[in-house]
Amino acid sequence: MIVVDKIDDVRKIVKKQKSQGMSIGLVPTMGYLHEGHLSLVKKAKENSDFVCASIFVNPIQFGPNEDYDKYPRDVKRDVKLLEENGCDLVFIPSVEEMYPNERLTTVSVSKITNKLCGAYRPGHFVGVCTVVTKLFNIFTPDIAVFGQKDAQQVAVIKKMVDDLNIPVKIIKAPIVREKDGLALSSRNIYLDADERKAALVLSKSLKEAKIMLEKGEKNASLIINIVKEVLKQEPLCEIQYVSCVHPDTLEDLTTIDDRALIALACYIGKTRLIDNLLWGEDI
Ligand code: PAF
Repeated sequence: MIVVDKIDDVRKIVKKQKSQGMSIGLVPTMGYLHEGHLSLVKKAKENSDFVCASIFVNPIQFGPNEDYDKYPRDVKRDVKLLEENGCDLVFIPSVEEMYPNERLTTVSVSKITNKLCGAYRPGHFVGVCTVVTKLFNIFTPDIAVFGQKDAQQVAVIKKMVDDLNIPVKIIKAPIVREKDGLALSSRNIYLDADERKAALVLSKSLKEAKIMLEKGEKNASLIINIVKEVLKQEPLCEIQYVSCVHPDTLEDLTTIDDRALIALACYIGKTRLIDNLLWGEDI
């Protein structure tokens, strides 16, 4: 696996691969990799010839009171994992390499970024869209893979790619969970033993929603209520939001006719966790 930290090196390598007829797959990450990220690499391998990953903790997608400084980092381990999982190139730029000058240009998607996580993390999606656009311009990938765990991020990036005619196919990969149901997240490392147990309430609440949906429930408010009821049973859990929306438009649903996204964010102690259930769509 090739490890590079300069944009020019990525461009040269990608150009050579493309000249040999290889398609390029990209898995953007912020590092501290877990099985969820590795499933994205696997998906990229299934859908492209030359698989690239990026590891960059993007400062501009963190709010002033968020965890940029303490975000977990272990680049050495990440490189080893990527290599073992068949990644061909990893790009690990410095902040100066990605943002060398005063930033006067950003990419922002309106409307669908004002709700769910976006409502509580102002500026977050401008940071995400800006860095992802830069990565798309650096790698010019044929496909890029994003995890369904960040369901709003996937919807926003798909919309951005569509609106701006960026020639890349966005592929979604399903949420990867621990055996007990907890969705994998680099932020799970923040949880102490009691919080780790308490965090199971997120997936438990979505399981209840799934049972109701399987029984034919179509009323979105009832689904939201059952999820909230389960979450409220856990004293360490503070609900930020529970929503039932269309997976692409993120419009609130009143009736669930076919596809739906039940998305939630909660604090478990000081750690903000998200989880979701995608209904009516196999990915
Ligand atoms: O999902 C993430 O890890 C980040 O938001 C991303 C897409 C790598 C952009 O920094």
